[in-house]
Amino acid sequence: MRLAAAELVESRQILPAQWIQSFHAPELATGSRAGQFVHVRTGDCTGLVLRRPFSLNTADPASGTITIHFRTIGRGTAWLTRLRPGDTLDMLGPLGRPFEVDPRSRHLLLVAGGLGIAGLRMLVDEAIRDGRQVVLLFGAASARDVYPSSLLPDEVEYVVATEDGSLGQAGRVTDLVPAYEAWADQAFACGPQPMLAALARLAAGRRERLGVATLGRKRGGGKQDPLGSPAARRKSFLQVSMEQNMGCAVGACLGCVVMGVSGQPQRVCREGPVFAAEEIAWEGGW
Ligand code: FES
Repeated sequence: MRLAAAELVESRQILPAQWIQSFHAPELATGSRAGQFVHVRTGDCTGLVLRRPFSLNTADPASGTITIHFRTIGRGTAWLTRLRPGDTLDMLGPLGRPFEVDPRSRHLLLVAGGLGIAGLRMLVDEAIRDGRQVVLLFGAASARDVYPSSLLPDEVEYVVATEDGSLGQAGRVTDLVPAYEAWADQAFACGPQPMLAALARLAAGRRERLGVATLGRKRGGGKQDPLGSPAARRKSFLQVSMEQNMGCAVGACLGCVVMGVSGQPQRVCREGPVFAAEEIAWEGGW
């Protein structure tokens, strides 16, 4: 974790109320992994200085740049949109635990609901770099909220569902999953909690439905890896990136907890934001 001065390089609105900003921050661009986030000090018109968490949307060590993707939902994010190239702000990161991809996984299924794409976008780049095939399923309310395909690498198969049927398949993004679950070696998701819970239910019943297609004998097969360990997460079919309001973002305030299956609260900022689906008590109503 480092505290870095990040200089704004480019700011652009990509969708209604959604922005992508690019910052020169070599300390953060190097060594960050998909799934991690930065805690950004923002200002607002009242003079309050607060930090906001943002997923690392992309990171390019060669140019030393990172991007964040956000929706304007309050004074802090509105303040960000008024920054101009050359302005600097301080960012703490990279924070949290990343996605864990099994080295043998060739086919990755990524499922994004709305702004959840921000939590998965960097995994697209990492997977393509490592020679994996990627299908990205994206769900939105209508065509006006659909993430532009021009912002994705050509190698990605991009499939869209909209609830009003104005683009892609009519319905929810979870409706698209059954067509790909036999193809996928692993799945990764970010989006609203009900979407993640629905995906967790699908993943839990997958072995029975498919008569199971696994990757074969796992390294260290037979040995139980501790729940929540990187090794256990790598063996999980579904990993989810959780979105919670955060205070400290470093594990101290307990303002971001979700309930784990063991009955132990899980801090999204420390044990997460990425979890294996089976670590979470989805019906817990946190
Ligand atoms: S935000 Fe404080 S413990 Fe997670």
